[in-house]
Amino acid sequence: MKIAFVGYGNVGAPLADHLQKLGHDVTLAVNDAGSASLRKLLATNPHLGSADPKHAVEGADVVFLATPFQANETALKNVAGELTGKILVDCTNPVGPGLTHGLNNAQSGTEMIQRLVPGAKVVKAFTIYGFENFEDNNYAGYNVEPVMLFLRQ
Ligand SMILES: NC(=O)c1ccc[n+]([C@@H]2O[C@H](COP(=O)([O-])OP(=O)(O)OC[C@H]3O[C@@H](n4cnc5c(N)ncnc54)[C@H](OP(=O)(O)O)[C@@H]3O)[C@@H](O)[C@H]2O)c1
Repeated sequence: MKIAFVGYGNVGAPLADHLQKLGHDVTLAVNDAGSASLRKLLATNPHLGSADPKHAVEGADVVFLATPFQANETALKNVAGELTGKILVDCTNPVGPGLTHGLNNAQSGTEMIQRLVPGAKVVKAFTIYGFENFEDNNYAGYNVEPVMLFLRQ
């Protein structure tokens, strides 16, 4: 499957890395070729592709969004047209100042994203565990039983 990533920091990077190693064709949507997260991820996995956001999203079957919530609108603005009919996996959380709900509980983060990209099929996933679990599913740092992540197909 062809997968594009918009945002590849703590959350996006391990997901992109694992998906590529599972055999998917993963392309990073690059705004800034000097980005620290881009350089770090490509140093870890040089088999990931990169392209400008429009081309990365245009060529993908599925797109992951893993940006800071405050950046979502900007990040999606230039690729909204390319997302029509595609699955957009929303990995973001609407975190406001002081860990408040960034949308004042008036709507969910995914509802807001769906409004930004009305043509996309938005699915929320990978948001309820810390990124350490995406890097290592045996991560023991939380001192709890191994975590479980439910996915609806
Ligand atoms: N951290 C966690 O454990 C965790 C767990 C579940 C969900 N989440 C949610 O996942 C999302 C990402 O969190 P994170 O911890 O991965 O953040 P992060 O490490 O700061 O990574 C953010 C990524 O988004 C990119 N980005 C920032 N502004 C952008 C824009 N305007 N357009 C395109 N890309 C942009 C950054 O690129 P640059 O490097 O170039 O700035 C970076 O690749 C957040 O919404 C967070 O709430 C986080």
